[in-house]
Amino acid sequence: MRVANVKPRRAQTPASNALLEEIALAVIEPTARGIAGGISRLVSAGHLEAGTRLPTVRVLANRLGVSPTTVSQAWQSLTRAGVLMPQGRSGTFVRGGRVVGAGRTLRTYESPGGLPLDLSTGTPDPELVPDVVAALSRVTGEGVTTSYVDRPVLPAFDELLRANWPFEPEALTVVNGAMDALDRVTTAVVRYGSRVLVENPCFPPLLDLLELVGAEVIGVPLDDEGPVVEAVRAALPLQPVALYLQSRAQNPAGTSLSAVRARELAEVLQASSLVVVEDDHAGEVAGAPLVSLGTYLPTRTVHIRGYSKTYGPDLRLASVGGAGGVIESVDARRLLGPGWTSRLLQAVLVELLTDRAVIAQVAEASSIYAGRRRDFRAMLDARGVRSSGRDGINLWIEVPHEQLALVTLAAAGIGVSPGSSFVTEPLSSDHLRLTVGLLSDAGDKVADALADAVRAGLRSTGFPRR
Ligand SMILES: Cc1ncc(COP(=O)(O)O)c(C=O)c1O
Repeated sequence: MRVANVKPRRAQTPASNALLEEIALAVIEPTARGIAGGISRLVSAGHLEAGTRLPTVRVLANRLGVSPTTVSQAWQSLTRAGVLMPQGRSGTFVRGGRVVGAGRTLRTYESPGGLPLDLSTGTPDPELVPDVVAALSRVTGEGVTTSYVDRPVLPAFDELLRANWPFEPEALTVVNGAMDALDRVTTAVVRYGSRVLVENPCFPPLLDLLELVGAEVIGVPLDDEGPVVEAVRAALPLQPVALYLQSRAQNPAGTSLSAVRARELAEVLQASSLVVVEDDHAGEVAGAPLVSLGTYLPTRTVHIRGYSKTYGPDLRLASVGGAGGVIESVDARRLLGPGWTSRLLQAVLVELLTDRAVIAQVAEASSIYAGRRRDFRAMLDARGVRSSGRDGINLWIEVPHEQLALVTLAAAGIGVSPGSSFVTEPLSSDHLRLTVGLLSDAGDKVADALADAVRAGLRSTGFPRR
């Protein structure tokens, strides 16, 4: 390779002649594509470190004997690909973080590290999940495909979904879980540098995903009815391309979108062209009625329904319906990958969704979760520990000091998730997320430990916060 034996550039050094020569050497053909390829190779080989400032468009154009437009085009494609980062008058820099970053996601689950009582998982109680294997033994092979180009939705599932969708979807598809849906929809809608609105707090893997694709995230505060309308309105002049929200059992805050709030948000969003991405990840274990902005904005809403909380995370299916353009682009892109989600698994899900005994069992699970939530919150109230969580399997608990609280709980053998993984910007207090759905007994012990954690935080001085 022509760039062998070149030392990596130190971050933040001004563009120099040596750098200019190095780039000129790496550019094999003087076209936008050739320039982009040369820079890209230098970055992947580690010869240009993250933070290196590149020569100006004019200087590089002069050196290569091409027009400034050609260099600008190369810069634009490298920026879109996430290799470069334009910083206004300061110049254009090599972007860092090309490694897949799942920092928040890993932090959400890593703190327990094998503690005896792990309430950090965000997963349903295995005792309350219907028997998926028994359902598998009841399905026939009907609808199982031998074609690579069939529609990705099993016809029986399509019919069932359309009968129960909260609005008339322009298109429907099935993918491998709500997170897969968020990933695929994000790829279809969000570009490097796009602004997006998310709830603050929200689901850490979504924040990691948005960071990875180079989106600029704008946090919108939540109240008991969903995202605060005024905050959404105030952000619209920034021209966000998407609003992500959770329909019910918001993870971590436990709120659900009210019908009134859905209407108010839809009204405000008339003034924009953004895509609404609704994540109903909790599905049937949520207690609140399902409402959707798709009722008002059907061509701009993508509604996702997850099944992991109801039937266990190993089924890992989600249906996605609404805005035709987005869903068709998800399907088209998937043709270049797995194509569709196993129809055999879709048949198992149809079986689960239509079996009377399973339906009753799911309703029972939802009311058991509600009981656990209610009982545990009463224990917390009695100890002066503030929590929110009206729906779903998680609670969002206020603590004066996140790190001290995690340490205090770990000493009592209890694992929970650090609230900082869930926020786009700090809230008025630190928090923990605790999966109360797993707390079938031991509530008193956990409530005592949380009260200790709060007291430790109130006493603390000078302990590093995070
Ligand atoms: C808000 C939210 N979205 C998506 C997911 C992922 O769901 P799935 O297992 O269907 O991928 C979760 C899982 O906890 C979640 O809490």
